[in-house]
Amino acid sequence: MPLPQAQFLDIRTALKQGIRLLREAHVPSDTLAAELLLIHVTRRDRTWLYAHPEELLAPETTELYFSLLRRRATGEPTQHLTGKQEFWGLEFEVTPDVLIPRPETEHLIEVALDRLAVRELRSGRDPKLTGEGLTLADIGTGSGCIAAALAKELPKAKIYATDISPAALVVAHRNATRLGFSDRIAFLESNLLSAFASSPNQLVFFDLIISNPPYIGCKETNTLPIEVRNHEPASALYGGEEGYELYGQLIPEATRHLKPGGLLVLELGHDSLPAVRPLLETSEWTTVQVTNDLAGIPRVLSAERT
Ligand SMILES: C[S@@+](CC[C@H](N)C(=O)[O-])C[C@H]1O[C@@H](n2cnc3c(N)ncnc32)[C@H](O)[C@@H]1O
Repeated sequence: MPLPQAQFLDIRTALKQGIRLLREAHVPSDTLAAELLLIHVTRRDRTWLYAHPEELLAPETTELYFSLLRRRATGEPTQHLTGKQEFWGLEFEVTPDVLIPRPETEHLIEVALDRLAVRELRSGRDPKLTGEGLTLADIGTGSGCIAAALAKELPKAKIYATDISPAALVVAHRNATRLGFSDRIAFLESNLLSAFASSPNQLVFFDLIISNPPYIGCKETNTLPIEVRNHEPASALYGGEEGYELYGQLIPEATRHLKPGGLLVLELGHDSLPAVRPLLETSEWTTVQVTNDLAGIPRVLSAERT
């Protein structure tokens, strides 16, 4: 779509033209994407936009808005254009170096907090957790969203967050700093839990190991939306040819690094459960639970170390 003729476009017209441009390009959630881009360029919020439909945009704002719309129309994720995504009520910077946090990953946090609280109840302690005395590990932290959500909910916990990607760790560290959690989360470059096992006297034991590992199969690449396939980091997406391969390394490592009674909480791909659940059906694990996401997909697998 060519740039609008009018130099001074009002909010209502800008929004309508933006939605039309994205719709013609078959962009999913076109209205939301146009709104978010307009909110981004005007530095206003949604309420303000809808309360001021007649307000005129400055020509440079209009130009920026349409340039972002065109980038969105060719497949760049909205979050890469605005540079942010909300997760667990916190705002995270996102760049092409990290996975954009997904809403279904919030189920991981819910399951972890529920199961930690149940553990307290069973031990006759107050289930209202502060995290006092708890050591947690988020494996494959990406933007740092899981570690930061846990830091928000468990203000006294000691949290480690690892990633194999140094570029992701830079973003995660910036997020933790901006959110005020940088003194409570230790970020480490590590292949899964290897950083905690360099020598026997350096072994670290955790109360909770939580992870949203890469779980898409390389063979599924062509089924992915262009936003994901061309714009999110391959190291955050693919777990191997089938997709579930990394669980086969992560679960034995977690077995060695959890305290007795420690919890493992894993996000699953849409079809990972049949391959992954059997890995927890051993004497080393108990109370294996599966939690579905809002779409009814088995999304979280959790278990307690015996
Ligand atoms: C699916 S993303 C999850 C990111 C973030 N935790 C979230 O939920 O949005 C997986 C992350 O694991 C990291 N990763 C991939 N292989 C890894 C490995 N072997 N060890 C540690 N991290 C790994 C990727 O770099 C990526 O940041």
